[in-house]
Formats: sequence, structure tokens, C-alpha cells
Amino acid sequence: MSDSCTKHPISLAPMVDKTDRDWRWIMRHITKKSLLYTEMITAPAIVRGNRDKLLAFDPLEKPLVLQLGWDEPEALAESCRISEDYGYDEINLNCGCPSDKVQRHDFGAALMARPEHVARLVEAMSAATSLRVTVKNRIGIRSKKSNLSLEDYSDLHNFIKTVSSAGCGKFIVHSRIAILEGLSPRANRDVPPLRPEDVYRIKEDFPNLFIEINGGYKTPQQIDEALSYVDGVMLGRIALDNPWMLSQVDRRWFGSDILEYQSTTRRAVLEAAVPYLIRRAEEGASRGVLIQPLMNFFAGEKGAKAWKRTLTAVPSAGPEGFAGALEDAVTALDSNLLD
Ligand SMILES: Cc1cc2nc3c(=O)[nH]c(=O)nc-3n(C[C@H](O)[C@H](O)[C@H](O)COP(=O)(O)O)c2cc1C
Repeated sequence: MSDSCTKHPISLAPMVDKTDRDWRWIMRHITKKSLLYTEMITAPAIVRGNRDKLLAFDPLEKPLVLQLGWDEPEALAESCRISEDYGYDEINLNCGCPSDKVQRHDFGAALMARPEHVARLVEAMSAATSLRVTVKNRIGIRSKKSNLSLEDYSDLHNFIKTVSSAGCGKFIVHSRIAILEGLSPRANRDVPPLRPEDVYRIKEDFPNLFIEINGGYKTPQQIDEALSYVDGVMLGRIALDNPWMLSQVDRRWFGSDILEYQSTTRRAVLEAAVPYLIRRAEEGASRGVLIQPLMNFFAGEKGAKAWKRTLTAVPSAGPEGFAGALEDAVTALDSNLLD
């Protein structure tokens, strides 16, 4: 197993409209070691769109995985070739997204019905890049329209067996099925029950693969338990709802004894983030979007609501007033909250 696998027991999930470069830049100041993911980007967008806008990032965000969505080998291979020059560490194929838009094109979770085809996609991608190609999938799918029910452990086993035989050595498995019609993407992240034991069993059956579990992890205790069965845990919504929880990650799961990681404080993160956000706003990034990663920065603390209220008002200070309003919002914070 390569270094990039063994070194990353914790990753932060790809999340459309959330895990953009500014979100990642801030998260990287909270956890120096977790593997970060981009939002899902479709292959045609990369082949035909504004590549720098879609793919460029600050090297500080590394290690960083690009997540691709699509179902045609040529476009995926071309996207891999184009993206490699940008400095990503891995490329991941989305086989877990159940949104209508994605299904119209037959990629995302719908790909789980076609393991042989996913194997061909992985082969095409791996031939086009020297980067590791990984897959993020569900434990199964159900589709009334297609009269399809691939929900048994044997279906998951078959998917992993087929795709790993094409050279994929790492799978991130969201431990609930995706229901392809009648359930929104949001409900598809909550309604189908979690079945972590299926993912643990995959690790037992394929001990040489790097198996990372995803879905519903919120506390260090839950993560510890999962890591006694599998190689990694991917964290999604907890990073949005309580980003400061990630400040435990480096010390607890990467065994980092470097002082810099041990002494991270909210003050240190804000001291870095404020000038960064001001610069990005000057470069034209949306002020409303820029402040989002910090919205829940004090989740669970007394003062969290007041901070949210103050921060929400910052973008309305306009382009000229943004810097001052953001600095004032931070200055007004109680020092108990910061150190
Ligand atoms: C707002 C949002 C956007 C998401 N976008 C993606 C995506 O682009 N690609 C993907 O594979 N999963 C996406 N997901 C799913 C997450 O990566 C993850 O699998 C899911 O949230 C379950 O993990 P959690 O319970 O830790 O949040 C998204 C989830 C959320 C909440």
C-alpha cells in the first residue's frame, strides 16, 4: 500500500457547493493532515469549461483529491490528463451521488448497477494518469423505475471485486444504499439506514484493499470504533456543522507530535483566515460564500448564535466595507472563545 493511503485514516468528504477552495483553505488550518476532497466536477466541464476556475487551488490545501463524475471512459481519461498538471494527489470517481441531474446522465450512484463498466472507467482513468484512482460508492442501490434492487451484501461484494480487479485499490463506502427515485439527495443521506457492518465485512473479504467508511460519523468515539475495523473514516456534514471538531484530528488519528498541530487555537485560525478572506473578496469571490466556512466555527459554545448573526451581516457591508466588518466581527469575540 502506498504512503498516500496509509497516511490518511481521516478525510473530509467531497460536498458540492461546500468544499470549494476557500472552504478547504480554512479547513486546512484546522487539520493539517486530513485528506481533503474537491466538490464533484463532471468530466465534460473539465474538458470544455474554464479549467483554471474549476481546478486551480492553493498548494497549501494538499493533500487534495479531485472527485470526478461521469460515465464515459474517454472524457474521464481526458479529465485525468488535464487535472494531473494542477498538482492533485489522487483522483476519485463518484459512484454514490443519487441526484436527478446525475441520474439523467447515468453516472453517480447509477453506476453501481454496472460494475463491469466502472471497471472499464477505472482502467481508462488509470491509463491516463500516474495518480491513484479511487472510487466512492454506496453499499447498494434501489430503483423502482429500472426494477432494480442491488441491496444485498453479495451485490456490494461483486461491485468491489469487479472494480478492484481493474486496479482500484481504495474504496470509500457510504454505508447506506441510494434510492434512485422518489428521494431527494438530502433524504438519501439520512433515510436509508446505515449498515456499517457491510463495510467492515468488505475489509475482511478484501484485506489488501484500503477501505474507508463514510456516513453519520460525529464523535471521536464513533470514529475510533470504525477504525478498529477499516482503514479510514470520511467525515462529511460534521465538518460543516462543527468544523472545530476537526482540530482533534491530527493529534488523535495521525499521531502528530509536532507542536504546531498541538497548539492550534481558534484565534490562530482566524488570524490566518481573515486576511485570506479579505484578499479573496478583493479578487472577486462572493462575500456571502466566503464567510460560510466560519459560520459554525463556534458550534456548541456560548456565543455561537451571536457570532453567526454578526458574521451573516458582514457581506452586506459591501465591497468597501467587507474587510472592516469582518475584522470588527472577530475583534468583538470574547477571548475565552478564541484561546
Ligand atoms: C451538501 C452536500 C453535498 C455533497 N456533495 C457530494 C459530492 O459532490 N460528491 C460525493 O461523492 N458526495 C457528496 N455528498 C455526500 C458526502 O460526501 C457524504 O457521502 C455524505 O454526506 C455522508 O457522510 P456524512 O454523514 O459524514 O455527512 C454531499 C453531501 C452534502 C451534505
